[in-house]
Amino acid sequence: MTIGIGLLGLGTVGAGVAEILLTPQGRHPLVGQLALKRVAVRDLNRPRPVELPAEILCTDPQQVVNDPAVDIVVEVMGGLEPARSLILAAIAAGKPVVTANKAVIARYGEEIAAAAAEQGVYVLIEAAVGGGIPIIEPLKQSLGGNRIQRVSGIINGTTNYILSRMADEGAAYGDVLADAQRLGYAEADPAADVEGGDAADKIAILSGLAYGGAIERSAIPTEGINRLDACDVNYAAQLGYVVKLVATAQCLGSDADGTVQLDVRVSPTLLPKDHPLAGVHGVNNAILVEGDPVGRVMFYGPGAGAGPTASAVVADILNIAGIREATGNGGGLDPLLAANRWRPCRLVDQGQTLNRNYLRLQTGDQAGVIGRIGSCFGDEGVSIRSIVQFEASSERNDAEIVVITHEVQEDNFRRALASITALPDVKAVAACLRTL
Ligand code: NAP
Ligand code: HSE
Repeated sequence: MTIGIGLLGLGTVGAGVAEILLTPQGRHPLVGQLALKRVAVRDLNRPRPVELPAEILCTDPQQVVNDPAVDIVVEVMGGLEPARSLILAAIAAGKPVVTANKAVIARYGEEIAAAAAEQGVYVLIEAAVGGGIPIIEPLKQSLGGNRIQRVSGIINGTTNYILSRMADEGAAYGDVLADAQRLGYAEADPAADVEGGDAADKIAILSGLAYGGAIERSAIPTEGINRLDACDVNYAAQLGYVVKLVATAQCLGSDADGTVQLDVRVSPTLLPKDHPLAGVHGVNNAILVEGDPVGRVMFYGPGAGAGPTASAVVADILNIAGIREATGNGGGLDPLLAANRWRPCRLVDQGQTLNRNYLRLQTGDQAGVIGRIGSCFGDEGVSIRSIVQFEASSERNDAEIVVITHEVQEDNFRRALASITALPDVKAVAACLRTL
């Protein structure tokens, strides 16, 4: 039995998927039953890394959805529209969908899930988070018996690639970003990578799977690496830390009505060099899931790029194809849909969260400055783990002071910071980062 595949997009990921479908030898036998029937692109004349018969290419993506030879629609075009409408159109036509589009799923996952449930078709999203790492299916199924306490990880390959090369080679930010784009890691608009939005989309999806309810995507506190100063990466290294863009979703308890209180965020974070996420380099991603009773489980592998992402897309296609072969149709209710609906969740006020902080202050280099900074922290009950003076210059009478706090309530830290900012010795708060 041949299963017709329609591809919406033949860019980095789409071409990777086509390459697998066109070379089934040595792969799972079902791959040989998948036939590429129709492919939508924007520009028919653009050179492609895969050769396809000209007659299956088109520039109208709706033709792919409508083509009766297409049994499974694979959305790898990116962007919010027309991707969302095309996914909904495929579902309305009773066709299962595989998508790598985290931006759409993080914002319209509930709408898409409801439409898919009504039609009884699968919408699978393994490629949306972690590139080639299987993390969606494990969270949906394999870890289903756990109470998940925390999901944290490095889930943007582009920024991890940039940070790794900056730390290892002292490479310039702009040059490494250009390399990440050339290698197919970055989003069409790389602002989504470097400003943290892509990681926020992904942690919203993981949070929904881990805790059973959607959260407001736009309310996730998000900070990227675009404002990170290389000197903080350098100071962090001298203090025994590496800086990574970390996304976290943590359960802090529940309200009286059962609504789960979640701390979900994306921020550049200092990790002690022996932390399991600290050794994740280059385009690799890692997701650390902490659950009861499983303990800590880490998923690691390439987080972006044509091959790894196509691997995840094809796995989803094979899941649907396998069900189709076993049951005679590709229908059924994706456990994702059920998993996303079992309880309400909400984001907590950040002021109530507990954090360790890294702070870099530019100050005058005079007697008593460190003491006065220490008093501001002490007055708010903020305990200091270390305080170090870097780069003192008696000529300019200035110094850089780096403080790392113990775990403190965010409101207390912010009040202490306001008092510190008001000290006449303090010229600027040059950086304020999270620390694990
Ligand atoms: P890409 O290289 O920019 O490819 C997008 C493809 O979609 C191109 O072939 C483009 O056609 C086509 N396209 C876009 N809009 C279209 C429209 N309106 N009509 C017809 N065709 C259209 O993007 P990508 O990197 O493959 O990413 C695709 C999706 O996968 C995104 O949602 C992304 O977030 C996700 N993803 C990417 C990676 C990765 O490592 N790149 C990893 C995981 C998930 P042309 O080629 O003619 O321009
Ligand atoms: N731009 C994304 C990243 C692609 O760099 O992680 C994988 O989702």
